[in-house]
Amino acid sequence: MILPTHIGFIMDGNGRWAKKRGLPRKLGHREGAKAFKKCADYCRELGIQHATFYAFSTENQKRPSDEVEALLRLFDEYLDDIREMKSKNVRLRFIGDLSFFSDKTREKMLEAENATAKNTGFTCCLALNYGGRDEILHAVRRLVTEGCNLSALDESAFGDFLYTKGLPDVDLIVRTGGEQRLSNFLIWQAAYAEYYYTDTFFPDFGKKELDKALAEFAERNRRFGGL
Ligand code: FPP
Repeated sequence: MILPTHIGFIMDGNGRWAKKRGLPRKLGHREGAKAFKKCADYCRELGIQHATFYAFSTENQKRPSDEVEALLRLFDEYLDDIREMKSKNVRLRFIGDLSFFSDKTREKMLEAENATAKNTGFTCCLALNYGGRDEILHAVRRLVTEGCNLSALDESAFGDFLYTKGLPDVDLIVRTGGEQRLSNFLIWQAAYAEYYYTDTFFPDFGKKELDKALAEFAERNRRFGGL
């Protein structure tokens, strides 16, 4: 079966998952974090090379502070346990405007990236305080500040100024929670991506659902190749 080389996940529906059970939204995020780890592991097992997970958008900052704090705690807890990633040959990447995070958290992110930089099995990329437009603006500002040679600037050279430098374009975007929007996720990198959405809330998103998305991707790709 043809697999995407790079898959993106918009992990939506944690809040509704919790509400349906009469639980606080932050418990939905905790369950979402468990689903994220299982999903990343399954991508790796399947042989997908890169996956990017939209865990916190630039817009999510506007949420009530207790919800934002609960999410930040989950990211911190994840960063405390990177030994497993090392043993599984997983490379960690963090993309987004990381200046939002505390010095301590940023240090942990950098340490995790450095400690796993040589791992080649699977790239697990977390989009944190990420926005596609923000990423493009950030790239343009750098281009101007660093005095870029405009005649040599093509799409590939521009890509090197994006947070995702070194990662291939995303081939498939999977969104849970029923919405059919891209929501400012990888807007440059998803120019040719297939899009798949499911009504399932992210905490309930498991292997079966991912298999379904991948089968549909393979099918669409096959039709494409046949033309
Ligand atoms: C959107 O659903 C989801 C988020 C804002 C957070 C996503 C974060 C995770 C799944 C946890 C990731 C954890 C780690 C360790 C990387 P929503 O809460 O807006 O859902 P709703 O639309 O039902 O309200």
